[in-house]
Amino acid sequence: MANQEDIFKKVISHAKEYGYVFQSSEIYDGLSAVYDYGHNGVELKNNIRQYWWKAMVQLNENIVGIDAAIFMHPTTWKASGHVDAFNDPLIDNKDSKKRYRADVLIEDYVGKIDAKIEKEVAKAEKRFGENFNKQKFLETNPRVVEYLEQGKSILSRMAKSLEKEDLADVKALIEELDIACPMSGSKNWTDVKQFNLMFGTKLGASAENAMDLYLRPETAQGIFVNFLNVQKAGRMKIPFGIAQTGKAFRNEIVARQFIFRMREFEQMEMQFFIQPGTQQEWYEHWKEHRMKWHLSLGMGEDNYRFHDHEKLAHYADAAADIEFRFPFGFKELEGIHSRTDFDLGSHEKYSGKKLQYFDHETNRNYVPYVLETSIGLDRMFLAVFSNSLQEEELENGTSRTVLKLPAVLAPTKAAILPLVKKDGLPKVAQQIMDELKWDFNVTYDEKDAVGRRYRRQDANGTPFCITVDHQTLEDQTVTIRHRDSMDQERVAISALKGIIHEAVDMRTWLQKMEA
Ligand code: GAP
Repeated sequence: MANQEDIFKKVISHAKEYGYVFQSSEIYDGLSAVYDYGHNGVELKNNIRQYWWKAMVQLNENIVGIDAAIFMHPTTWKASGHVDAFNDPLIDNKDSKKRYRADVLIEDYVGKIDAKIEKEVAKAEKRFGENFNKQKFLETNPRVVEYLEQGKSILSRMAKSLEKEDLADVKALIEELDIACPMSGSKNWTDVKQFNLMFGTKLGASAENAMDLYLRPETAQGIFVNFLNVQKAGRMKIPFGIAQTGKAFRNEIVARQFIFRMREFEQMEMQFFIQPGTQQEWYEHWKEHRMKWHLSLGMGEDNYRFHDHEKLAHYADAAADIEFRFPFGFKELEGIHSRTDFDLGSHEKYSGKKLQYFDHETNRNYVPYVLETSIGLDRMFLAVFSNSLQEEELENGTSRTVLKLPAVLAPTKAAILPLVKKDGLPKVAQQIMDELKWDFNVTYDEKDAVGRRYRRQDANGTPFCITVDHQTLEDQTVTIRHRDSMDQERVAISALKGIIHEAVDMRTWLQKMEA
């Protein structure tokens, strides 16, 4: 079996080869942690965004969308706490001159302990077979219990030190754990320092009068500053939500995992405004609801888990991540944060404008509390793409590379292939294409033998191949081949739209959330 690093390399090269993701400005040797999406990538990204928007905005009567500007008044970022507290603790290795996030070095150390636990679980599972009780094993196996406690105590000490801004203790922890530079193996570390992640820019025609601006590091603040505008214009009643998708920018220190951690990326965020005191109930609601959204895509329950935060951001009173099993292990995919009244309260203070809600039921004014769901679109793209890419051994001894994207998200829903480039078959194929393109993104392919074309479409992630052959001319039927099973069936041309629709319709997929 290929190791994690090889699998991840394959993901990156496949993404490039099939027009999903390119390094930005590649002809100039690229720009670190900045990526462009190709002809397939942009479709997959749009489909993920739509899948989120449908579930969050259009299927929830009390959630509406906005599209706020990337540039915001600079005081926004003072009020939000980003100017003072949007920092990562960084540490340099004096020998390799490599820079790391101190918390990531420690988390990776704990990740190795987690991997040992997974290994023990896998061994026991094999030994006990059907009688294996994973929960009991985790609670009672002495070695596993020790590993779990070790990991917990390391993370808890790190959280406390970061909370107290005790950076000397963070360094001490790295030294006590004997953590070495992953590049050079050296343990010659500098002190830990804070590094602000916001990108600065300037607005104005002349240097003297220019105003310092930031590129937004999260889309959430565009929602907070528009809270009253939306509430009034939309006549929204609490509880209600405002959602938006858009670019965010962070000068990440560690940016080595392809589109997992980028300097320019896109977020899909929703702020849900609630009555103070109800945050626990809404926190549980949104954790469950968002997990259901992920599971509706059928990418395997075992690939997701919750991680409750020990170290809370400056605005939160509770927070959890939905983690996904990426090719490099379980990592954060989405955050669910109970943000209290921190943001609205702070914007009230800095702007001098009231950002309150008059509750007709209780007859009182209050600053609403907020529950946030926040997911990176690019990170979701990586989750879907990496999970879908598979090498399959076939019965005839050959193998195929197949991108088993959930059909609802696949960039191209069907490829129309004339068996040969003559006898009028291309014309019929083109007519089918011209009919289907009104409903689906479809493609036409007549180059190479049909077997090679099937493989090409498998690697592209196209759920259906429709082949037009000589029989088509006689009885108006075609073969439709299913990407995942490779089964083929003969169907009437008139049935194609219905078959594809059933497989790719958002309703079919999102209704799984209600089950
Ligand atoms: N408004 C809350 C917020 O921004 P966050 O945990 O910093 O919270 C939310 O970010 C999500 O945005 C993450 O779960 C992740 O999916 C995505 N994200 C954050 N930084 C990212 C980066 N540098 N590159 C790609 N995605 C990122």
